Amino acid sequence: MKTPGAMTKPQTGLIGLGTMGAALALNIAEKGFPIAVWNRTTSVTHAFKAGAGPLADRITPTDTLADLVAAMAAPRAIVLMVPAGPTVDDMLAALAPLLSADDLVIDAGNANFHDTNRRTAQGLPFRFMGIGVSGGEEGARHGPAIMAGGTPEDWTRMAPVFRAIAAKAEDGTPCADYMGQAGAGHFVKSVHNGIEYADMQMIAEVYGVMRDGLGLTAPEIAPVFARWNEGALRSYLVEISAAVAAATDPIKGGALLDMIVDAAGQKGTGRWTAIEAQNLAAPIPVIEAAVMARNVSSRRGERAAGEVLYGPAPTRADLSLDDLEHALIAGKILCYAQGFAMMTAAATDFGWALGMPAIARVWRAGCIIRSAMLNDMATALAAHPGQNLILAPFFADHLRRSLPSLRRVVAAGALNGLGLPALSAGLAWFDLMRTARGTANMIQGQRDFFGLHGFQRLDGQDYPHGPWADHEATVSATP
Ligand code: 6PG
Repeated sequence: MKTPGAMTKPQTGLIGLGTMGAALALNIAEKGFPIAVWNRTTSVTHAFKAGAGPLADRITPTDTLADLVAAMAAPRAIVLMVPAGPTVDDMLAALAPLLSADDLVIDAGNANFHDTNRRTAQGLPFRFMGIGVSGGEEGARHGPAIMAGGTPEDWTRMAPVFRAIAAKAEDGTPCADYMGQAGAGHFVKSVHNGIEYADMQMIAEVYGVMRDGLGLTAPEIAPVFARWNEGALRSYLVEISAAVAAATDPIKGGALLDMIVDAAGQKGTGRWTAIEAQNLAAPIPVIEAAVMARNVSSRRGERAAGEVLYGPAPTRADLSLDDLEHALIAGKILCYAQGFAMMTAAATDFGWALGMPAIARVWRAGCIIRSAMLNDMATALAAHPGQNLILAPFFADHLRRSLPSLRRVVAAGALNGLGLPALSAGLAWFDLMRTARGTANMIQGQRDFFGLHGFQRLDGQDYPHGPWADHEATVSATP
């Protein structure tokens, strides 16, 4: 892309001036790229320019898609910021007769990566990229993290724009990078969102222990999160959790958090990650537990009936805040270890050159899961390519220190009726991962018993089936 001046005919365009699209368009304009914009409702397009202040002279509003294309210089790059799903297909179909082979359409929404793969393969009459953009409205406006998928040539072409608008890590590196062909960018964004669900769930779990197990009020909980945000847990999500806990209800006074209905919404990206992990046979139980917990949270009627039937949980936990902090540190490491292992499996399965250290670096700033720990993760993933993060010495040290707390928290949750699905799932996975002699020998024996599936012997001897035919299925209970 050429470096532009204010009066140059724009090479960049954007379709969809909703919250995220408008913020991204302003960000692009602010970084010096003139931009043509179009929105389905024309009044929104003109109101957008009118409200763009000093950036207005870099914004060309257009009333039709044909106007948008005509207002731009070739080769064009048009960012789509429309709802994921059929709307994207409709826009691609509408643009098809208007664009040339060198024009590029960039789907920057939260697309399912399978859709991005399909769209890439379907033979569109223009170039096509799918990019994951994270950071909410604030990120889109002032610097998101960008996970780009598409051809290396299109990445090279767009990298100056993406890098200019992206968040910058503390060392100044732009948080925008190439993830691989076709749906690779949207895939990594979907894993990001799975981890986002898990981080949020684990924070909610320790909040629950503080509230129900330790009897702390929201204003008492807020400074705890704020303090944790100064240590190993320094992250956007812990920071905003402190702010959420500290907020006062503008209508009734008191803690706003206590007035919010305990049913979590979701648009589906976390679920997609869980489904894909099952397809890849990649264990991500912390993320799966987080998706499950959101689903349970929305069943308010059943939960209320359950409490009437079984009585309220005993909920008195004998735990220190220090234990909770360390449980959260351990849970976070375990969850990220699972996420990176899933992406490693996907890279092999889909033939993508996903670089784990590069992904960790892209997530260091701008995105919702940005955190201090990602720096160390990038370093560990680079030092030990292909190895699970829990085996990297730096994180093994961290885990050795924090696991006793995770065990105490999970045990106290189980004993006191405090549901901690994500933290428990992380611990159970860890205990499987650190056990050389597991219990699947029993499963193999069962499989062979009823299905003659065979098994391998530890001594390597060739005796693939058990002597089941010689025995009754029922064994005497008397030794
Ligand atoms: C981000 C967010 C953003 C949004 C998701 C998840 O990275 O900026 O992930 O994309 O929060 O859509 O939303 P749900 O919680 O509604 O699934």
